[in-house]
Amino acid sequence: MPRAPRIYIETYGCQMNVSDSELMFGVLGREGYVRTEDPAEADVLLVNTCAVRDHAEQRVLGRMGELKRYKRPGDVLGVVGCMAQRLGPKLLERVPQVDLVIGPDGYRGLPELIARAREGERAAETTFRSWEHYEDVPPVRERQVSAFVTVQRGCDYRCTFCIVPMTRGPERSRKLADVVREVSGLAESGTSEVTLLGQTVNSYHDGDHDFADLLRAVGAVAGIRRLRFTSPYATDFTPRVLAAMAETPAVCEHVHLPVQSGSSRTLKRMLRRYDREAYLEVVRALREAIPGIALSTDIIVGFPGETEADFAETLSLVEQVAFDDAYTFKYSVREGTPAVRIKDHVAEEIKTERIGRLIQVVRHVAKQKNIALVGTTHDVLVEGPAKRGGLLQARTRTNKIALLEGPTDWIGTYVNVRFTGTTGSTFTAMREALVESWQ
Ligand code: SAH
Ligand code: F3S
Repeated sequence: MPRAPRIYIETYGCQMNVSDSELMFGVLGREGYVRTEDPAEADVLLVNTCAVRDHAEQRVLGRMGELKRYKRPGDVLGVVGCMAQRLGPKLLERVPQVDLVIGPDGYRGLPELIARAREGERAAETTFRSWEHYEDVPPVRERQVSAFVTVQRGCDYRCTFCIVPMTRGPERSRKLADVVREVSGLAESGTSEVTLLGQTVNSYHDGDHDFADLLRAVGAVAGIRRLRFTSPYATDFTPRVLAAMAETPAVCEHVHLPVQSGSSRTLKRMLRRYDREAYLEVVRALREAIPGIALSTDIIVGFPGETEADFAETLSLVEQVAFDDAYTFKYSVREGTPAVRIKDHVAEEIKTERIGRLIQVVRHVAKQKNIALVGTTHDVLVEGPAKRGGLLQARTRTNKIALLEGPTDWIGTYVNVRFTGTTGSTFTAMREALVESWQ
């Protein structure tokens, strides 16, 4: 019997890309492909890319230079994802070793484009298919303990800095029943934590059901103990969604709530649908609905026209909200987005200086909060071995990472631990007791 063809996928960018790579393993799995972690033994090599910042694209271009070394005669090298969608055929020109380029709505076409590449035809497929949910494609997941479930694709918002609406196309939601069926299957195979994914996930609407209905329905699936979602949009936390969060025990006490800036003037020019006050109001409502909720965020520094006073408002917002964590980015010009035309682009040195100051404030605020948690007890889900030190890595419902000693058969189970120390961002922990299953 001939050896089954091997597929290698390298994934960059957000959780949605991780989820899309799982879909691609699903599409190709149906064709008899077997996954490999070793590019040297792969027959098909794919790089699933991000286009949100120039830096991400440069990294991929650098990586293509390395991956082409693994390409033997007859092998296929492809670029997929947001950068593939953004650059399309230009990528074929730019990297001669690339055989195929496919955007996020075209993954169904992978087997065909691979076959054509083997015949020597190089092609780019970047058509938007606003109906595409890949509903019939069973994702092939690597992680068992916790799973990403895409519930919404694309984005209909028009934040002026953002390329995503141009790379992922129009917003569309999967049917609630389809999501529940997928989550039930996951729970039956032992997964107890799911993260629902969408670009503005809490604006989910399938025509009959909103995000509140979805949270309640997924939270009611037997075996699902932890329910997370990312990324929500601040102003889509309706009272119905807040009530569903508060009344669904599985919904975790953590929300990633991208703010982008603390300056109302900047937010307006970003075309975010809230100002500083409205964002703070959402934070207040979340904290009232879910006491003890942890909050993390995304922040951009150096958006065109950002003054020192605007930036100072971002710093003060971080302190005022007291975020548990924040991802910080220097504004990156994305061709074709409206912000390109805004005057007064901020100099690179100023962006570098501002992000440095911001990171200091973010770390300081997070550290104060985390120091106060040393000595407290938490139920953690043990996710797997930690990167270093022979320890296990576990996570609280509030998304805090704890490292602890224990046998590998704790992986996938819930353990009650006491935090014994913190680096400022992560914790060391010791087991108090094994948590009884509550279902
Ligand atoms: N849908 C999400 C974000 C998607 S992009 C939301 O509602 O916010 C992920 C993050 O990348 C954004 O939150 C933003 O902070 C950052 N980002 C997007 N475009 C960027 C750009 N042009 N330059 C720098 N950071 C950017
Ligand atoms: Fe981008 Fe704004 Fe949508 S950040 S993904 S356009 S909500």
